[in-house]
Amino acid sequence: MEPYLNSWLLRDDRPPVIVLGNEKGGSGKSTVAIHLAMGLAAAGLRVGTVDLDGRQGTFSRFVENRKRYAPTDQEAARLVFTEHRQISLPHSEMDPEAVDEKLAQLVTALESLGDRHFIVVDTPGSDNVLARAAHVLADTLITPLNSSFLDLDALVRVDNDASQISGPSAYSELVLFMSERRADMGAPPIDWLIITNRLPNVPTRVHRSVMVILRKLSERLGFHFLPSIHERVIFRELFLKGLTVLDSAELGPAAATAGSAREEVEALVDAILVRSSWKELAARRAEAKSNPRRGDPSKPAISFENWDPSRR
Ligand SMILES: Nc1ncnc2c1ncn2[C@@H]1O[C@H](COP(=O)(O)OP(=O)(O)OP(=O)(O)O)[C@@H](O)[C@H]1O
Ligand SMILES: [Mg+2]
Repeated sequence: MEPYLNSWLLRDDRPPVIVLGNEKGGSGKSTVAIHLAMGLAAAGLRVGTVDLDGRQGTFSRFVENRKRYAPTDQEAARLVFTEHRQISLPHSEMDPEAVDEKLAQLVTALESLGDRHFIVVDTPGSDNVLARAAHVLADTLITPLNSSFLDLDALVRVDNDASQISGPSAYSELVLFMSERRADMGAPPIDWLIITNRLPNVPTRVHRSVMVILRKLSERLGFHFLPSIHERVIFRELFLKGLTVLDSAELGPAAATAGSAREEVEALVDAILVRSSWKELAARRAEAKSNPRRGDPSKPAISFENWDPSRR
């Protein structure tokens, strides 16, 4: 399965791939993916989007809702759209041919989006072959996290009174593993970014404790922080219409309450424009090429077989 992904990863002229990932379900991957993608498009950029969560298909349903909201060319012209693709899971992950076929479809989808400024990929909240492939392909990985110990558990094991970190979780190990495999083959490692989502409007003791641990962890696991997003009802209200908090002109009376949410999304988009642009990726690639890691040449460049999920 490796050649499919390698051929894409080592292409010099491809756009940055931004993956939303977290094995913990419901952390806000799709909400952030939708708002980031629409925000980049609203900034005048060509954006490709890929939905790998075939079961829920949240991003794809958002796209359908948006098209239904603006069915005529004239109405659609008021909105921004992305070029969207959806890949479903293979009928069996045990069938190598079926898996290979899906990985080939994924790379074909990415190649069809090769002229975009950014590709944003939404993944399911569970470990499967497409989610793992997405993590290999992630030039930037954004992990949304709610500020609770339950969500923190997706990254790291913490002891009962939250005073000691006892080790990384299976998900953190997966990210570090995939990042190393990328580096072994001369691609830049994953730039791992955490976004705290659904931040409580009144700071709680749990939130403060979680942030203390996250800050300690950022050095150990090598991630950085994106500007946070607060818990806001408006993020839940617009999905059925296929709108985002950025579509101010369409929101009617809700526009009045969307202002703060819009500012948060704009801060996220700005941070990604600075950190994850094509130019930044080109610099990271040049660095990876000029400082090749001395990996084990007998080891395949990317191998999911080496990743042992039974360790969880
Ligand atoms: N900042 C926010 N404020 C309020 N509600 C939010 C916010 N972010 C996400 N939500 C809500 O939380 C729920 C889960 O969000 P979402 O579907 O984006 O998570 P997910 O990580 O994609 O989930 P899954 O793992 O199932 O794919 C949804 O109902 C969404 O509307
Ligand atoms: Mg989702």
